[in-house]
Amino acid sequence: MPHQLRHFPFPITTPRLLLRKPCIEDSRAVNAGVEESFDELHQFMPWARQRQTLQETELFIEQAVTNWIVQKSEEPWFPIFIFDRTTQEFIGATGYHHIEWESMCLHIGYWIRTSKSGQGLMTEAVNALTRYAVEELGMRRVAITCDIKNIRSQKVAQRLGFALEATLKADRVMVDDQISDTLVFARYSTADLPALEVSW
Ligand SMILES: CC(C)(COP(=O)(O)OP(=O)(O)OC[C@H]1O[C@@H](n2cnc3c(N)ncnc32)[C@H](O)[C@@H]1OP(=O)(O)O)[C@@H](O)C(=O)NCCC(=O)NCCS
Repeated sequence: MPHQLRHFPFPITTPRLLLRKPCIEDSRAVNAGVEESFDELHQFMPWARQRQTLQETELFIEQAVTNWIVQKSEEPWFPIFIFDRTTQEFIGATGYHHIEWESMCLHIGYWIRTSKSGQGLMTEAVNALTRYAVEELGMRRVAITCDIKNIRSQKVAQRLGFALEATLKADRVMVDDQISDTLVFARYSTADLPALEVSW
């Protein structure tokens, strides 16, 4: 029996950003962003073991577009692209993964293009997606997981007041085949999130 499709209002806007679902026309900009950021992505993102061709980016976006249409909760989950609200420049990607509609839990993932890091833009995007998850989607638990050595990612979660809930020992294999630990951060409400003007 087909599951009930949900309505996701987009775009989401913040003072500096516009966040929306992917479309195939984004392929070149996204591929350029991935290429520019390869060294950072390669360290921590399992999908960035190798450089990405334009065709691979197109395939990823096609799968993402399909997932959004049929609301399929599997790879590549529900990516959301981030653009500069003024210039429309592609800034990076965030999105929801491991959505559990019964328990109302999900995870937020993210990466930013290297030239746009260090300005608090990802913190702004994740703040907005946390609010959207709780206030629009009715999620009870919003989680962020990252490698124990991924300090910049941990700082995004900490800046937004996510609590460290667990360290999953020997939970992941890194790009150099080393076994590593995963940190689990979570939030259960939007209370005390840093103030942010967000609309959708
Ligand atoms: C994780 C990642 C997104 C963090 O990027 P980032 O640029 O550090 O995060 P932000 O865009 O939120 O910027 C925060 C930085 O901007 C600074 N900043 C400047 N203005 C700011 C503002 N208005 N608000 C908040 N921070 C601000 C912060 O001090 C911080 O710098 P610091 O860490 O040196 O103190 C990035 O390192 C990345 O894409 N890594 C590769 C992929 C990855 O690991 N993803 C996560 C997987 S779990």
